[in-house]
Amino acid sequence: MLTYSSLNDENVHLVATLERDCFGKDAWSENLLRGEIGQEDKHYVVLKEDDEVIGYGGFCKILDEGDIMNIAVRTDKRRCGYASKILDWFFEQADLVGIKSFTLEVRVSNLAARNLYEKKGFSFSGIRKKYYSDGEDCCIYWKYM
Ligand SMILES: CC(C)(COP(=O)(O)OP(=O)(O)OC[C@H]1O[C@@H](n2cnc3c(N)ncnc32)[C@H](O)[C@@H]1OP(=O)(O)O)[C@@H](O)C(=O)NCCC(=O)NCCS
Repeated sequence: MLTYSSLNDENVHLVATLERDCFGKDAWSENLLRGEIGQEDKHYVVLKEDDEVIGYGGFCKILDEGDIMNIAVRTDKRRCGYASKILDWFFEQADLVGIKSFTLEVRVSNLAARNLYEKKGFSFSGIRKKYYSDGEDCCIYWKYM
């Protein structure tokens, strides 16, 4: 059974493991994730199946804008619609907390994520050169609710 929960002391270790598996050297550390717990402007969802963390995502609310910070799905659970469910959860939260638009940055080379965002109604709005520490450019996307 699929369950949704917030980021909390019980699941943060497993979320950090998922981060490492998905983002390698760019992963957020467990300490950094712990610092996010309970912050009023941060909205995280953790997806669990049979007590295993299979995906998570979060955004930061700045005025009426949602800045998507991370979204990741365990390798063996990809292409099953879980990232889409995480985004749907963001869109439901938008209604509840008064968000009018979402924005995000994604590596130019990350075609899986770019396809996901485009499928979920985000529009490409530009490139920021050398955004990442390894020199890769990022694409900026927006979605108006
Ligand atoms: C990007 C990511 C979150 C997608 O998760 P997912 O659960 O597999 O996504 P979904 O199953 O909801 O896919 C929705 C759509 O996204 C697109 N998509 C997802 N993975 C794709 C891939 N490998 N190649 C091409 N398109 C892809 C497709 O349009 C897909 O729809 P379809 O399956 O009907 O064709 C996942 O690949 C991941 O965790 N990647 C590593 C972390 C990451 O890069 N996060 C994004 C940082 S900005």
